[in-house]
Amino acid sequence: MDYTGLSLDAAPPLSVPLRFFLAAPAFGIAAALLTAWVGPSVLASRWTPATLATVHLLTVGYLSMVMAGALLQLLPVLAGARVGHERAVAAGVHGLLCAGTPLLAGGFLLSDRALLRTGAALLVTALAALILAAGRALAVPRTRAGRGLALALTALAATLGLAAWLAGRYLTAPASRPVWVDMHLTWGLFGWVGLLLITVAHQVVPMFQMTPAYPAPSHHRLVPALFLALLLWSAAAGLAARGALPAAAVTFAALPIAAGYGWFAAATLWLQHRRRRRLPDVTVAYWRLGTGSLLLAAALWGAGAAAPAFARDPRWALLLGVLVIIGFGVSVIHGMLCKILPFLVWLHLHRARFAAGRPRAPIPPMKELLPERAARRQFHLQCLALVLLAAATVWPQLLTRPAALALAAAFAEFWRLALGTAHRYRRLVRPVEE
Ligand code: HEM
Repeated sequence: MDYTGLSLDAAPPLSVPLRFFLAAPAFGIAAALLTAWVGPSVLASRWTPATLATVHLLTVGYLSMVMAGALLQLLPVLAGARVGHERAVAAGVHGLLCAGTPLLAGGFLLSDRALLRTGAALLVTALAALILAAGRALAVPRTRAGRGLALALTALAATLGLAAWLAGRYLTAPASRPVWVDMHLTWGLFGWVGLLLITVAHQVVPMFQMTPAYPAPSHHRLVPALFLALLLWSAAAGLAARGALPAAAVTFAALPIAAGYGWFAAATLWLQHRRRRRLPDVTVAYWRLGTGSLLLAAALWGAGAAAPAFARDPRWALLLGVLVIIGFGVSVIHGMLCKILPFLVWLHLHRARFAAGRPRAPIPPMKELLPERAARRQFHLQCLALVLLAAATVWPQLLTRPAALALAAAFAEFWRLALGTAHRYRRLVRPVEE
């Protein structure tokens, strides 16, 4: 593997990212079980209390949880930016996310304003603390990746500002909500989640999947261009909400965002097609699933833009949500973690060996730290859950519960894999340190 551009000596202690990676699947399972319990109404409309609860268990409890851990891991390694008091920051952010997510979801589910606002306050505090800690470390971004991470954090700040505003008005002022909800979810999914994943992909796809590098213009400009496109779209949506622009202008302004993500997905698939090692690799499969879902989402969005009657069908938005959150976000994150988890364990065992003055103590290869066969089983469950969920948006009565149970099984299997790797670390590091 080629580690050029990484400062591996600066990696934080393993507990810093691991506590996030091990907690996240519990929220994925909770989202899936909630859907199975409530049933078809979760996929009947974007606005039901259970849908909003499920969406936030996934976007905050799963996606943002993993990404907070990944960010604390990557800032020093990828961007040369050291986070001060990293253990304390990780413990604080993690604790607040774990407490705030069920409260926010419970507030949505029970339509309880006090619960929702308490959850929102804890989550905004957690993620604002992450932005402050990371922002201080990134004050002078030294690398291209550092600039990408800084833009993803700025998008998170926009998401949080809108989240706080929406939480303050939830259940009080429905009339003006949709445009601000759309802005919040767009900055959350295509700013915070998307820009971070694209920034990390430019580093880890060539490294872990042995592909050629992304083309230089993509490396230099894709993330800033997408950020600018998000700003322009927000301005257009704000003006249209006041009646100063026709609604069609907002669709037009969203085109560069769809084109940028479509390009990223197509470029990743093309690079994978040209990879140097042809051996089967589950990470490649997850990325194909993720980027394929992203391309489908871009096509579905395009169809809705060309035929507005199609986009008015509630199933359109729900299918888009499934493709972006589960198809793209969750699949790509599983794919990354299948490489990052064993890599981190291997790295920290290696460090422990030197720290104990035993540089020759044996360390198993990475593929034994997270077995490929078990990961492939999880991948098949993930595919099954995604197909069933997508179909359930069309036939909710028939398929919501089977789809939700398949998703719970997929998250549970991923949790088992991650816990197994963490357990192997504890078992292997003990004899090195003794
Ligand atoms: C930090 C805490 C957060 C709070 C307090 C919060 C709060 C809210 C509120 C109040 C709504 C609007 C509900 C309505 O008016 O009907 C909403 C919608 C939404 N939020 Fe969040 N949010 C948070 C974080 C996030 C993040 C980080 C993401 C994405 C990564 C996200 C994705 C969404 C989505 C996709 C919707 C629309 C749901 C739908 O259309 O069914 N939220 N959020």
